[in-house]
Amino acid sequence: MQQLHSIEECLFWRKLQKGTVGFVPTMGALHKGHLSLVKLSKHFCDNTLVSIFVNPLQFAPTEDFDSYPKTIEQDIKLLQRGGADAVFLPTEDQMYKQFHNASFFESALSFKLEGRSRPHFFKGVTTIVDKFFNIINPTHTVFGQKDAQQLLIIKKMIKIKNYNITLIEGPTVREKSGLALSSRNNCFSKEEKKTASNIYQGLLNVKNSLNCGENQARFLKQIFKNHIKKFPLLKIDYISIACINTLDEILGVVDKEVLVSTAVFFKSVRLIDNFSYSPST
Ligand code: PAJ
Repeated sequence: MQQLHSIEECLFWRKLQKGTVGFVPTMGALHKGHLSLVKLSKHFCDNTLVSIFVNPLQFAPTEDFDSYPKTIEQDIKLLQRGGADAVFLPTEDQMYKQFHNASFFESALSFKLEGRSRPHFFKGVTTIVDKFFNIINPTHTVFGQKDAQQLLIIKKMIKIKNYNITLIEGPTVREKSGLALSSRNNCFSKEEKKTASNIYQGLLNVKNSLNCGENQARFLKQIFKNHIKKFPLLKIDYISIACINTLDEILGVVDKEVLVSTAVFFKSVRLIDNFSYSPST
């Protein structure tokens, strides 16, 4: 696996590739969720490039940029074992130089759900992904459904900016308990992970109720809140049932495909999870 430390090295690597190139953007501290995206890219593409870059632009000053887990040596070993062809490890200086405030894409989707709690977030994500798309010029890119809103926004960015890139979606990889794998789980003990897995359990309760015919959004959200209430260390930031395309909140009956999503604080860590549901399924 080639390690590319500069934009020039990356451009040169790209020039040499024959066939399709799959791009998997990450912020490192890799886990099986990330590796499942690498596997998908390898399945669909001739070459796979993974980026590792903790993007300062998507963190607010009050957030965990400085303490974001960094496990770079282990990440490189995991990617080697996972069969990635190249890893791109640019520095902050190279990615932003004098253009730190450049914003490339804004959409109404960016200010709902996650965007309401983290107004800077999608500006940061789209800016860096846009830069990566321009440097890497991939034929395919792989994003995880774990970050459903991010995936939706990148899908829209690709369409609106006419990128000739096929977006591949990777399903959320979970621990046995149901807890969605996340780099931020590194901060938790075994016991704490068990508590955190109740976020998934709460969502599962909502899903079961939907499957049993309950269709009032307000009541469904209450089911989630009632479950989380049992764990005093878990604090709900939001629980949403929204149209899967527009992310507009469903106020009455769930009569179309929806994204059920949540962000929950556990101690100082903010965890997100979701599932999509279609009334016809
Ligand atoms: P990061 O949180 O490192 O996630 C990188 C990719 O892994 C994203 O597409 C995310 O949805 C996916 N992912 C994370 N946890 C997963 C899980 N449990 N199962 C499956 N896929 C999972 O998302 C980012 O980084 C950044 O915002 C980035 C896109 C790299 C831009 O900086």
